Amino acid sequence: MAFPTETVYGLGANAGNPAAVAKIFAVKGRPLDHPLIVHLADAQQMKRWARDIPSVAWRLAERFWPGPLTLILKRAPDVLDEVTGGQDTIGLRVPAHPIAHALLAAFGGGVAAPSANRFGRISPTQAEHVRQELGDAVDLILDGGDCEVGIESTIVDISSETPRILRLGSILPAQLTSMLHALLPVIQSGRADKKLPRVSGMLKSHYAPLTPLEIVKAPELPAKIQRTLAEGKKISVLARSSLFYEADKNLFFLAMPEDPALYAHELYAALRKADAQKGAIILVEAVPVEENWLAIGDRLKKAAAR
Ligand code: TXA
Ligand code: MG
Repeated sequence: MAFPTETVYGLGANAGNPAAVAKIFAVKGRPLDHPLIVHLADAQQMKRWARDIPSVAWRLAERFWPGPLTLILKRAPDVLDEVTGGQDTIGLRVPAHPIAHALLAAFGGGVAAPSANRFGRISPTQAEHVRQELGDAVDLILDGGDCEVGIESTIVDISSETPRILRLGSILPAQLTSMLHALLPVIQSGRADKKLPRVSGMLKSHYAPLTPLEIVKAPELPAKIQRTLAEGKKISVLARSSLFYEADKNLFFLAMPEDPALYAHELYAALRKADAQKGAIILVEAVPVEENWLAIGDRLKKAAAR
């Protein structure tokens, strides 16, 4: 079953039922060793899924839950290996969407849910995206409209002495550092450290449209558009700047918001629209290198990687 959260739509199953969890992996085409986030109705339920919960977990939960933050903690002994990918840790999150909350409260247990897209593809931010991604493979989609945040939750690993951010999201590193003494900088994707947990969001290529995507700095964009069109190629452009360009049947232009929160909200829907044009390439204007744009820059870089 797919359901809305404030970040993206999730593909949910009873986290206590191995057969139900196995179906998630089958539907997504996801490697079995990639762990799932377990979604909870409230912070108190952490005790059922995690052990040795540090006090900072309760403080973070108090401050950010319900909301777009996933905590990685040591897992409780009876948690299914199917959920954690065999790791000794578990990802937990209390989502803020009213439909997700109603579902979780009524169910009472934990709902394991990855984003409701095929592995490596763009996360769905509308019920219609889930339908396009998974079709008949999903028996039920709860339609909660547009996801407000639009990109996946921030993941912070507090299962060891040194907290680490494993995935950037709308909750910024600076908001977390105030609560964690030694927060290590975000782990760069592609780093070959065997000890690191498996986070698919850390793979070099992820969140990717089918069409090749290239990030272009604003000043170079108009010339790049002209050159590509001159080659007779059909292109899509996602840009925040209002560019002067001549209407061209081969050009599909998507104006993106200047505000990072609004940009994140629209990003995945825009990438889907651009992808649907089936052009030769999607050109995306580079976003600022500023903290509140970091998560967006990260998603774009992964969408560009092949
Ligand atoms: O916003 C979100 O987090 C959405 C909504 C549905 O809640 N979910 C989501 O799930 O993005 P998914 O599976 O697409 O991404 C979860 C990420 C994966 O990269 C996974 O490897 C990582 O979380 N993860 C889950 N459990 C983990 C663990 N125990 N240790 C390290 N990483 C973990
Ligand atoms: Mg995902």
